[in-house]
Amino acid sequence: MELKNVLSTIDTNTEKYINMVDLTVRKKNSQYFTPFSIGSYMSDKINLDKNMKVVRVLEPSGGTGRLAAAFLLGLDFSSVDKVYIDIFELDKNLIDILETNIKLISNYFSEKNVELDYSIYCENFLEYDNSNKYDVIIGNPPYKKIRKNSSEAIANSELLHGQPNLYGLFIGKGVRMLNDEGQLIYLVPRSFFNGKYFSRVRELILNDYSLSFIHSFESRTKVINNEILQELVIVKIEKKMIGEVIIKHSLGIEDIDMSSEFVVEKDIIWDVENIKIRLPIKNNHIDIIRKMNSFRFNLSDYNLRFKTGPLVDFRMSEYIDIVQSFNKYYPIYWCANFGDTNVKWPLVDTKYPQYVSNDIPISVLLNKGNYLLVKRFSSKEESKCLKVNKICFNSYMYDKFTVENHVNYLKVNDEDIILLLGLFVLYNSKFYSDYFSIINGTTQINVTDLNQLPVPNISTIRILGEKANRIDYSNPEECEKLLFSCI
Ligand SMILES: C[S@@+](CC[C@H](N)C(=O)[O-])C[C@H]1O[C@@H](n2cnc3c(N)ncnc32)[C@H](O)[C@@H]1O
Repeated sequence: MELKNVLSTIDTNTEKYINMVDLTVRKKNSQYFTPFSIGSYMSDKINLDKNMKVVRVLEPSGGTGRLAAAFLLGLDFSSVDKVYIDIFELDKNLIDILETNIKLISNYFSEKNVELDYSIYCENFLEYDNSNKYDVIIGNPPYKKIRKNSSEAIANSELLHGQPNLYGLFIGKGVRMLNDEGQLIYLVPRSFFNGKYFSRVRELILNDYSLSFIHSFESRTKVINNEILQELVIVKIEKKMIGEVIIKHSLGIEDIDMSSEFVVEKDIIWDVENIKIRLPIKNNHIDIIRKMNSFRFNLSDYNLRFKTGPLVDFRMSEYIDIVQSFNKYYPIYWCANFGDTNVKWPLVDTKYPQYVSNDIPISVLLNKGNYLLVKRFSSKEESKCLKVNKICFNSYMYDKFTVENHVNYLKVNDEDIILLLGLFVLYNSKFYSDYFSIINGTTQINVTDLNQLPVPNISTIRILGEKANRIDYSNPEECEKLLFSCI
């Protein structure tokens, strides 16, 4: 059979399964099959030694075998004599298709005088006790949160930190099955780069392996048939130590080969202190990271800390009102109350209640003072992800107030209006928003990420505060200019 017929038969078999099984069932089992174009792009990133005659391969979550096929059929048959491949697939309903597809490849290999020795395991990869080592591991593992007491989590407890997700465990278990020169390539959600639940797996990679290649996709919908709404990345991890990382970025599949490539040192990608992976996708992002690396402090050095707004409206609805109907009341600040630089309150004609009664539990009230507020969510379309406002002690007539749960806040010393202004300029600058998008692929601005952001020394922040009134500090570009002139 000709190569193109092998490929199209595997594609047809995969499509048949996709059309036969309801999307809700496939979603539940995390069955998103990798298109050939992505599979062969991933395979191209595997560099096998030209003299390698025998190759050992693992596909830990085989599906219909389309990704494995993309790799196997792209091999250089003039140098390889024999390929061993172990394929795991948990769903018994996929095994027949998987077997049919791999047999087709095996026949094609025979025609090329290459032996394909394959084993298909209808097993849970995460629980299977497999001491084999592989030259190549290729996968698009299932993305699914699992319980901490699930059998998969217990079997891989050393890789866990909080809420486990299957794909993190597939990465951790996979890399430990690599041969000395082994290479692993996976398509996974970008949340692996900074989600706290994956910190143990990242630590393992940082210490014992090398992340040598990243391809990120701009679009959430243009990678796997609109079926996955997470930002996806292709990562290559190698057993040997490599000091540089190749980065590529495209909108989706169609322009995957057109994307430009740049190479950066490992310490640009790794935020070693917080064990997170940064994703620069433009050349100027490298300068941003370098500058940020030169800041040696963070907020905790100045006893400052962002927290999340304590008021969860539906839990406190009996204390909340849209109009000023209580005798004694305090203000609530929502995202809707954000102005250009200062919060606006009270809003009229709004669906967001502006008042809480003063007998609301004290735990959700904050004392009057100088505060910085940052919205907890931004939309992907917005050019700037950090939306900042301030509340100034002097202009404030209430003893207490509350902040709704979609807003983060930072309390600054009451007398220190200069520091408040300096911090405003810092977080409102385009520079900080750009850096945030490099470390965080989601639209969530969580307090852990905010608190871990490096900051300049406190005297520089105060200088920003002193000079703030000389610029239009509602403008992020002007804030950036002022910041750059002071560091
Ligand atoms: C995202 S799909 C990818 C399939 C294939 N690798 C591809 O790229 O086309 C993940 C596959 O893993 C299977 N799977 C889910 N949990 C698994 C587990 N614990 N062990 C092995 N396979 C699993 C699912 O049934 C699904 O077919």
